[in-house]
Amino acid sequence: MRVLYSGEEIQRRVEELAAELRPLYADRNPLLLGVLKGSFIFLADLARALAIPLEVDFVQLASYGDGTESAGFVRFERDVERPLQGRHVLVVEDIVDTGHTLRFLLSTLASRQTASVRVVSLLEKPSRRCLAVRPDYVGFTIPDLFVVGYGMDLAEGFRHLPDICVLEADDK
Ligand code: PRP
Repeated sequence: MRVLYSGEEIQRRVEELAAELRPLYADRNPLLLGVLKGSFIFLADLARALAIPLEVDFVQLASYGDGTESAGFVRFERDVERPLQGRHVLVVEDIVDTGHTLRFLLSTLASRQTASVRVVSLLEKPSRRCLAVRPDYVGFTIPDLFVVGYGMDLAEGFRHLPDICVLEADDK
């Protein structure tokens, strides 16, 4: 396993993203909407770095494909707790890969009378994008590597790692 971004590098980038987002959301009591499970650490760090009044909720989405990547069919495992009407929603993702998950979520949010919806993703892999959907704010743009750590998993393992790491052939 090799480190792609260290915990220190991630924290610096999270601070930069927070500095960019803070003026947009100060005094708006935004709803940080994390997409479980992979976003849980990024959301926790971003919420603290923003250091403004905000609320937090989570959705969990399931996609059905060949098991290694999301396919066109996505559905809610868990929806938000409270109505989104009039809310400034900041979707928080760990990674946007093919874009199926984000497209489904954004199309769902479009019917909920939000005041605004923006998306921040810690990582994106533009080389794998199938759909014309992209996050408004991105931490790091990466090539087509399988990454774990900082919330991201392989078979539910490695989520706790403080760094974002690339799995190599002998890491299983
Ligand atoms: C990951 C990630 C995104 C999605 C992106 O979730 O958190 O939600 O895949 O892929 P896409 O752009 O190809 O749709 P995953 O399904 O691995 O679930 P997890 O967050 O619970 O690990």
